[in-house]
Amino acid sequence: MKALAIRRYKAPMEMMELPRPEPGPGELLVRVRAAGVNPIDYKIRDGAVKVLLPFSFPLILGTDLAGDVAAVGPGVTRFKVGDAVYTRLDNARIGAFAEYAVVRESTAARKPARLDYAEAASLPLVGLTAWQALIDLAQLRAGQKVLIHAGSGGVGTFAIQLAKHLGAHVTTTAGARNHALVKSLGADVAIDYRTTPFETIARDQDVILDTQGGETLLRSIKAVRPGGVVVTIGGRPNGKFARAWGLSLPLVWILGMLNHKVDRLARERAVRFEYLFMHANGEQLESIGALVDQGVIKPILDKTFPLESAAEAISYVESGRAVGKVVIHVAE
Ligand SMILES: NC(=O)c1ccc[n+]([C@@H]2O[C@H](COP(=O)([O-])OP(=O)(O)OC[C@H]3O[C@@H](n4cnc5c(N)ncnc54)[C@H](OP(=O)(O)O)[C@@H]3O)[C@@H](O)[C@H]2O)c1
Repeated sequence: MKALAIRRYKAPMEMMELPRPEPGPGELLVRVRAAGVNPIDYKIRDGAVKVLLPFSFPLILGTDLAGDVAAVGPGVTRFKVGDAVYTRLDNARIGAFAEYAVVRESTAARKPARLDYAEAASLPLVGLTAWQALIDLAQLRAGQKVLIHAGSGGVGTFAIQLAKHLGAHVTTTAGARNHALVKSLGADVAIDYRTTPFETIARDQDVILDTQGGETLLRSIKAVRPGGVVVTIGGRPNGKFARAWGLSLPLVWILGMLNHKVDRLARERAVRFEYLFMHANGEQLESIGALVDQGVIKPILDKTFPLESAAEAISYVESGRAVGKVVIHVAE
């Protein structure tokens, strides 16, 4: 089968002819119709997350897909051949930028009926990230104030709609050219991060979802009320996360040291600080699919590329110019 893969970290991405994988126990073989592109794809290519996710080579890139079940392994109970599914692949077995992929049953969900394959493939990683940040970690409730950074990005366009559905008052940061878009998704207030320091407008927030890390993260901790929560998906993992992930003691120590400033500021201001590394979850994807089918959440697609141009699709996401999601069309 054709697949976009690398032979080592930082190597050029190549279209390769690789063997079609076989589904093992509890796994589905999926004929990929479309695959979603995310910043994690170029971070994996560059080895930027190899401490958390060690891979072997050749490595097929891509973690989000929608397609049809082509075969099922022993013990699969929820899906049968021909079912249309979507998924964020397990970290242990990525490889969505290919004609076929093996999907663990527990990470798969039925494709939302309202969406075509490209739209469905755009949602899993960003939808699960927003869900795990706002619902699992922050427990965002109706009436609370939330600030969502990068509201025009893949995660932001989903998180705004989810936060609004939960009944929150939503402020977001985005470039001025994207303010009409983020407001159409439900943002009450849009701040141009290039011209206006967000904390001059967004103060005493109950929850902040940070996508940027660095200075934006430190300033976000100051913009949350005491007792509020900052969840970052853009900063570095801290010591608490490193311990929970099972990293070695020296790494826990190093990450603890590197995050010392953030952890200390959060403690001083009585803010709960959480680093999130999202995980695959089929049950949550079913819930997300239900919201999509009810018309509560819609995908925002920027561009679609053919599989042969998958490397170009990744470069486009890397350029930071995309608004919403970029998708690779794999098959009719
Ligand atoms: N830890 C995790 O589990 C996890 C999960 C998902 C994503 N992430 C990370 O989160 C980040 C965002 O992901 P994404 O998929 O949403 O990326 P994306 O779609 O590439 O986001 C691009 C958007 O970021 C906005 N932006 C750039 N600089 C900004 C700033 N200083 N303040 C506010 N907005 C800014 C741009 O807005 P304008 O064009 O409007 O200027 C652009 O629309 C990435 O670094 C990604 O790797 C982590």
